[in-house]
Amino acid sequence: MKRDDLSATTVLTAELPELAAGEVLLKVDRVGLTANNVTYAVLGATAFRYWDFFPTEPGLGVVPVWGFANVDASNAVGVDVGSRVYGYLPTASHLVVKTGRVDERGFNDVSAHRADLPSPYNAYALTTTDPSYSADDEDLHILFRPLFWTSFMLADQIVDQNFHDAAQIVFSSASSKTAYGTAAILKGQGREIVGLTSPRNVDFTRSLGCYDEVLPYDEIGQLAEMPTAYIDFAGSGETLAALRNHLGDRLVREVIVGVTHQEMAGPDALSNPRTTVFFAPDQIRKRTSDWGRDGLDEKFADAWGEFVPHAREWVDVLVGQGPDALKAAWLEVLGGTSPPRVGHVLEL
Ligand SMILES: NC(=O)c1ccc[n+]([C@@H]2O[C@H](COP(=O)([O-])OP(=O)(O)OC[C@H]3O[C@@H](n4cnc5c(N)ncnc54)[C@H](OP(=O)(O)O)[C@@H]3O)[C@@H](O)[C@H]2O)c1
Repeated sequence: MKRDDLSATTVLTAELPELAAGEVLLKVDRVGLTANNVTYAVLGATAFRYWDFFPTEPGLGVVPVWGFANVDASNAVGVDVGSRVYGYLPTASHLVVKTGRVDERGFNDVSAHRADLPSPYNAYALTTTDPSYSADDEDLHILFRPLFWTSFMLADQIVDQNFHDAAQIVFSSASSKTAYGTAAILKGQGREIVGLTSPRNVDFTRSLGCYDEVLPYDEIGQLAEMPTAYIDFAGSGETLAALRNHLGDRLVREVIVGVTHQEMAGPDALSNPRTTVFFAPDQIRKRTSDWGRDGLDEKFADAWGEFVPHAREWVDVLVGQGPDALKAAWLEVLGGTSPPRVGHVLEL
């Protein structure tokens, strides 16, 4: 797609390259598409550098997606043809990975252009040794796994920081998978969990049962006036202004997590001393150092195990095949017209 017009998509073709020593050819199989991928594109050229993972022609960007791929050819010791991996993939038929570490968990890509990008994005996990992999739940894994890592780490940080000394935790874009995954973990822990959403998504968001209260954006004035932490998935300047206006000093913390409304946070949003930006890989790094990688994975697997039965009820998976279906799903998610119950999975 064009970097300056995310609705202008294009299909490029190229010959498959010869593999050098240590390289692996992945056939991209099945990936998901949610607002998170749109955020990667919206923030592609910022310090997050999402365009840098899968370089392409000047002026164009390949949007990263999460999903499964199969090893089609391997020139790397310890990586077998036919293995199935989960990881960060391009919206493309294939990806050449230059393997660094190879062990029983999988391998990582040490290509020069990815070297200083966050390491969780560079790892490819073998399905055979992943304790929370289940072949029957691949689509849930595709859609929720990267988002639930964020939900899990964000909830962990909120609890670790004593709920930011707030009595009420308010989420925007409460109908989004990342927001409701976080709310599902936090509900029942002694704080009021409130979701804000678009009027058309109120019924869906209430039906989830993971918020104590759900309000449409235009009823922010109904929020209880108590110490409040705002967990912002929408990035809407208008919603933030309405909250600040209604709560004043009772708005004790603003945490920027996402920009589903596709507005870049302005200096006004960021300059506030109560504002922090949440980036899941940072909290993953912190907890890996506190608990060790195995300890973190075990805690995540427990939380994931509790979440999956709910997630199964909260999503209708819509499977499309090939570039045309990918384009249609992309334009729907970009335009915000996908109903929140729909989860797009693409076979490429
Ligand atoms: N910081 C991190 O590390 C991190 C990690 C993962 C995800 N995130 C962020 O969390 C956010 C949610 O991602 P998700 O994949 O969970 O989303 P999702 O499930 O696809 O969310 C869909 C919801 O987002 C809102 N939305 C989507 N497109 C919109 C548009 N064009 N205009 C206005 N609203 C729109 C709507 O919610 P409402 O009607 O309720 O507003 C919609 O129901 C994204 O911004 C993502 O980047 C951040």
